[in-house]
This record gives sequence, structure tokens and C-alpha cells, in this order.
Amino acid sequence: MHYEDANGSGETHLQRLIDGESMARRKKIYEGKAKILFEGPEPGTIVQYFKDDATAFNAEKKDVIEGKGVLNNMLSEYFMNGLTSVGIPNHFMKRLNMREQLVRSVEIIPLEVIVRNYSAGTMAKRLGMEEGTQLPRPIVEYCLKEDKLGDPLVTEEHIAAFGWASQQDMDDILSLALRVNDFLSGVMYGVGIKLVDFKIEIGRVYDGDFMRLIVADEISPDSCRLWDIETGQKLDKDVFRRDLGSLTDAYTEVAKRLGVMPKGATPIARPTLIN
Ligand code: C5P
Repeated sequence: MHYEDANGSGETHLQRLIDGESMARRKKIYEGKAKILFEGPEPGTIVQYFKDDATAFNAEKKDVIEGKGVLNNMLSEYFMNGLTSVGIPNHFMKRLNMREQLVRSVEIIPLEVIVRNYSAGTMAKRLGMEEGTQLPRPIVEYCLKEDKLGDPLVTEEHIAAFGWASQQDMDDILSLALRVNDFLSGVMYGVGIKLVDFKIEIGRVYDGDFMRLIVADEISPDSCRLWDIETGQKLDKDVFRRDLGSLTDAYTEVAKRLGVMPKGATPIARPTLIN
């Protein structure tokens, strides 16, 4: 049995066993492609477990990338804490261990909210644009969260007509998405990384009769496009989608630059923005 760092993510085999045991005791609510949700210890809380599974193209391409779950857990903690520090409401409560975090339970709005600063991915393809072209302003797109249909792009007309969100919700979602974009772009620029695009999910929470929308799910290199400003090197899930090398190395580079997991140090995520 080896107790040292098992996969370069700072996770030891012993830690993995301990975390695995705590996971086995929890009641599963939902299993997605990259995460499992368990009932939390208090009403209104959820334990979000980050798996090592990587999928792309609506799960047509699959693999297990050892250490990815640990990195995404730490990075999502870092970004969500950063959002909190600038007043952007989100579901994150605290990290429990290397693979799990406690989050606020939300009613997920069935939309993927995508913000783009440079053309890439499906938008570049759809509009015949060269990847990396700077957009005149951030462009926000919405996709229906429906795996069976491959998460199709939808317009605000569809969203309003089918009642997936109200006009007030859409105003709030747009404002949240642009605030997250400003924050994330700045943080990434500070460590020499261009935020090309990202996806967030939004959930409803109720405080008594009062409903508000908060950022939910995760923010990690699984859900962003991150390019090195100098070299253009991809440091996100495109490394897996396009077979560009080691995904763990790419995510570790992001984590190291942000000071989330300095090599050789205990990987306790501590955002630099707050104490
Ligand atoms: O594939 P596409 O170009 O539409 O992706 C835009 C952004 O949204 C990318 O950063 C991608 O990682 C993210 N995304 C995601 N989950 C999806 C679809 C896209 O995180 N299901």
C-alpha cells in the first residue's frame, strides 16, 4: 500500500479510502457524468462528490482521468469562494474532503448558461468563425439541459414560451452570468490565462417566501475554455476532447498558477481574495 500522492493531485491512497468510506455512508440523490449528489447532513444541504470520469460529445467519448475529481473539487471551491468574496451568490458552503463539498440545495433551472469572450467550440463551428477571434462583447447563449437531445441551443423565446424561466429570472441570470464573467476573466488574466468561454448553471433558493437565483453546479476547467495568454496552450477539457495530452497536467497547471495546490504543499484551497 502506498500512502504518498497517488496521482499528482495531492490525494493519497489512504485519503482516497477514507473519502470513499464517507461516500458509501451517504444517501445518493443523483449521479451525473462527472459528479454524484448525496443528501447533506442538514435539510437544504447537498454533498457534491467529484468523480474522475471525463466525458465529451454527450458521453460518446469517455475515460477515467485519475485525480481530475480532486482538482475540480479544489478549483470549484476556489472560484465559488472568489464569487462570494465579490458578492455573487452561489451554492458553495464548504469543502469536506478531497472529493466532496457541502453545497446549498437548489432547484436547478434546466438551462446551461454559456458566456463567450472569444469564438471557440460549437459557436465557432455554427457560425464558421476561426477559433480565438475576439468577440465584440461577451455573448451569452442558453442551451436546454437535456442529454437525450444533446443540450440544444435555445432562445429566450423558447425559454419564456415553455416556462423554463420567467422574464425576471432571465434578467437575473444574464446579470449573474456577466458578473461571473467579469470576475473569472480578471482572476484568470492575473495568472496569464485567457478566459475564452465558460458554462454555469443557475439554481433557485427560497428564503421564506422570497425566491432568488444563485450560481450552482461547478466552475472548473471542465466547464471553461482556458488558454495560456502567451502560448495559446489549452488548459481545459478540450485537452481531453481533442486528445491534446494530459488533462491532469493541464488542470494542475491552472491550480498551481492560482495557488490552489502549490506543488508539494498540502492541497488546502485558500482563495487569495479572501481570508
Ligand atoms: O461546446 P461549446 O463550445 O458550446 O462550449 C462552450 C463552453 O461551455 C465551454 O467552456 C464548455 O466547456 C462549456 N460546456 C459545458 N458543458 C456542456 C456544454 C458546454 O461545461 N454541456
